[in-house]
Amino acid sequence: MTKYIGILTSGGDSPGLNAALRGVGKAAIGHYGMHMIGFRDGFRGLMENRTAPLDGGQLSGILTTGGTILGTSREKPHRMPVGGKMLDMTDAIVGNYRDNHLDCLVCLGGGGTLKNALRLKQKGLNIITLPKTIDNDVFGTDITFGFDTALGIATEAIDRLHSTAHSHHRIIVVEIMGHRAGWLALGAGIAGGADVILIPEIPYNVEIVAEAIRERARGGKSFSIVAVAEGAISVQELDHLRQGKEAKAAGKKVAKDKKVRKADSKMDDSEADAAELLYADRTLNLAKRLELLTGLDARVTILGHLQRGGAPSAADRILATRLGTAAADLIDQECYGVMVAALGESTQAVKLEDAAGKVKTVPADHPWILSARRVGTNFGD
Ligand code: F6P
Repeated sequence: MTKYIGILTSGGDSPGLNAALRGVGKAAIGHYGMHMIGFRDGFRGLMENRTAPLDGGQLSGILTTGGTILGTSREKPHRMPVGGKMLDMTDAIVGNYRDNHLDCLVCLGGGGTLKNALRLKQKGLNIITLPKTIDNDVFGTDITFGFDTALGIATEAIDRLHSTAHSHHRIIVVEIMGHRAGWLALGAGIAGGADVILIPEIPYNVEIVAEAIRERARGGKSFSIVAVAEGAISVQELDHLRQGKEAKAAGKKVAKDKKVRKADSKMDDSEADAAELLYADRTLNLAKRLELLTGLDARVTILGHLQRGGAPSAADRILATRLGTAAADLIDQECYGVMVAALGESTQAVKLEDAAGKVKTVPADHPWILSARRVGTNFGD
């Protein structure tokens, strides 16, 4: 029996999404003789039954392109803004899955997508997910596609910042994406030779960072590069948050912000809480403190969405192709309810229940951290 599969991309875009769509599609259609349709803009498009044909030439010429030809969104099936209200649209999604006579829905996404996929699995749908995100924080897979490309972009940025920091005898604080996990800041920091790397997993002490910079200056190096992950937090700030002091002071504002964010349907409670830690000006404050504590001039560079844009690296193209074709193999075997994880050079089907709701953070004793410490990188601890 010919199988019908649907596919969508969800969450923040990531280089390699198109390569993965192509990998799934070429294997599913060309090799297995299945039919495949795309849904536009993540779960929103599935809810609205906005489809995109993918069985013609649409899969050609996209291996090397950035973004996603299907479009994406962060919308969740169980809480979607419809007509000014937040509604549970899961039944509509299940209905469209059935109306399209799908045998399987393939969802390309990160942690949020995994949770949504699990909910749909629990509603009886056959689901397979592929792990993408530049953050590399999906639990259960060695690596996610998008990470390698972003790592290259962030590393090149640090390389470039080095020469200007050196010329002006400045501190440059470079903010790198990653609000829950510091893989990208850590990797780019090591590859770019950052003097200080600050990640969410290791709360930092700004005095220790300042002393490391002063020590470099005493040794004749009057410039420093500080690679800071979006979600990095100081010990002091963490303590404040833990004690609830800030929450109290910010009381009403926090509640209001959360309301707005939730109305936006972009975050659930825990994500909204996590986002409270992401003060937009945290990196600026860090630079200011370092200026005061070291007497050196400091500047901030926020790499932002540059890290997600453009063509995927060769490694991401290969990874996305491997995972995509493995997904088609699993559909052929009717192995559903899983994420296609990278395991060394191989792939592995990981049950959605085993990966959803978990974050792969950087372990304190990870070899990358140990090596960075050996070459004298400061982590602010
Ligand atoms: O999840 C990937 C990611 O790029 C994070 O690193 C970053 O914090 C977030 O998305 C930004 O999201 P948005 O593009 O929705 O602002």
